[in-house]
Amino acid sequence: MKIETDFLIVGSGISGLSLAIKLSELGRVTVLTKKKTDDTATNLAQGGVCCVTGEDDDFELHEYDTIKAGDGLCHEDIVRLIVRQAPERMAELEACGLRFDRDKKGRISLGKEGGHSRRRIWHVGDYTGRAIQEALTRRAMECGNITLLENHTAVDLLIMNADGCFQGHCEAMSDGTDITTQQGLRTPPGSKGTCRVVGLYALNGATGEIDTFLSRCTILSTGGCGKVYLYTTNPDVATGDGIAMAYRAGARVANLEFVQFHPTCLYHPQRKNFLISEALRGEGARLLTCEGEAFMQRYAPREMELANRDVIARAIDAELKKSGRDYVYLDITHKKPDFLKKRFPQIYAVCLKLGIDITREPIPVVPAAHYMCGGVVTDAYGQTDLPGLFAVGETACTGFHGANRLASNSLLENLVMAHQSFVRIQSSWQHLKSLPFASPPEWKTGKAVDMQEGVLISHNWDTIRRLMWDYVGIVRSTKRLSLAAQRIEPILKEIHQHYWDYLLTSDFIELRNLAQVAYLVIRAAGARLESRGGHYMKDYPQKDDWNWRRDTLLLRNELM
Ligand code: SIN
Repeated sequence: MKIETDFLIVGSGISGLSLAIKLSELGRVTVLTKKKTDDTATNLAQGGVCCVTGEDDDFELHEYDTIKAGDGLCHEDIVRLIVRQAPERMAELEACGLRFDRDKKGRISLGKEGGHSRRRIWHVGDYTGRAIQEALTRRAMECGNITLLENHTAVDLLIMNADGCFQGHCEAMSDGTDITTQQGLRTPPGSKGTCRVVGLYALNGATGEIDTFLSRCTILSTGGCGKVYLYTTNPDVATGDGIAMAYRAGARVANLEFVQFHPTCLYHPQRKNFLISEALRGEGARLLTCEGEAFMQRYAPREMELANRDVIARAIDAELKKSGRDYVYLDITHKKPDFLKKRFPQIYAVCLKLGIDITREPIPVVPAAHYMCGGVVTDAYGQTDLPGLFAVGETACTGFHGANRLASNSLLENLVMAHQSFVRIQSSWQHLKSLPFASPPEWKTGKAVDMQEGVLISHNWDTIRRLMWDYVGIVRSTKRLSLAAQRIEPILKEIHQHYWDYLLTSDFIELRNLAQVAYLVIRAAGARLESRGGHYMKDYPQKDDWNWRRDTLLLRNELM
């Protein structure tokens, strides 16, 4: 089936939906989402959204904290842009019916997290993301011009070359990656002159068919890729789809070595990816060994539990390696039970259900993959290297986060960059809407057959996630990274072969993307011979500003 739409958005989190709402003023919007609309990282976000508010705070301080966390790689123009738009974007969110927590005088209750020199985090209890997701979904449903298609998994972008030919059945996995530091627009490999993204192929989970979606603008807001790792706070859908598709299509991706590990994911056999918000440490929670010894004094004597996440994650990792234990504790029992129940209602309830009363006992925690600071390279308006293609949110790399993201800066980036993309699209809308829709060939399955053996997928899925956790985790080394590179190669080859031999399923599409992104993270990490932000190399423990104060850019080479 062929479906024509003015704007095609992949992903239904905060950036996808807030952009959809704005674009619906211009034309028809179709939002594709792999599972249910609220199966997003947004929905799980606990912390909140940074917005300079207090009298003791100002934009320069927020910019300073962001740049300090980013460890030399933040793009300062982007930092200024995003930090200074916060009040306007927050007002828009509230206009969608969202009400952030306020004190008795009606002032916003400001939260605090690691790396912030002031209280500046707007929140709704400890379920800010869920409140945002619900408000935006409600608003999007009210807009007549938005079609939300659940159970649709994007396969690959469709690119029309200047000569009217199409690319879309891309094969790139490991072949020909070019690591470059050059700037500037690059046409996709194999294209002659100007080309344009004109839509994508997507698997309709209800029919099992691959449909062709044609659009005037395509926006990737597919979130991050935490599922590349064995332990993650991310939802199951976080398989790096947007990054993998954009890379295969020939857009540059950047800084994929900067995976942020959240220090405190709940350690419990029945609840594997539940986050224990950094806001607990903002309210004074202490990290303890299993023997009850506070240890942050030894790693960050000044910032202690409010040091940046990379510092704390490494401290916990070192303590776990030393003790041979599986977890450390986070203790907030010094706070009054009433305060904890009101400020952290979700964490209190989930832990209690698992037999942990956070008002009386410490919480067992471990670090887990949480956020991808890199992504598809975009300009200040969400535009990727490929005309017709935008990327927003965790999928994108704007340069805002640099080598390490400041807590609660991501929802803000989503809102601002969705707005920026809208501004760019609106400014060229008269031209865009005069373009005819492309007419690419429909998907052909050829001789592909039903895979039948699910183990072909699950085995590789498990292998990749274990490999990434063990070899490309919180602390890395050149030896482990080169072993990881050797091990991922045959897996990529096998998946590549399966891609042509078997009918596509959503599990297989996700595995293909997961493998692609794992490969790219390994390549990027192996290329950066220093330690900076979220990337720590045992054999290069120092920061090397002379050689490495620059983004790691990856571009697929001429091979298709
Ligand atoms: C948290 O609540 O600790 C997560 C917030 C974030 O990742 O920004």
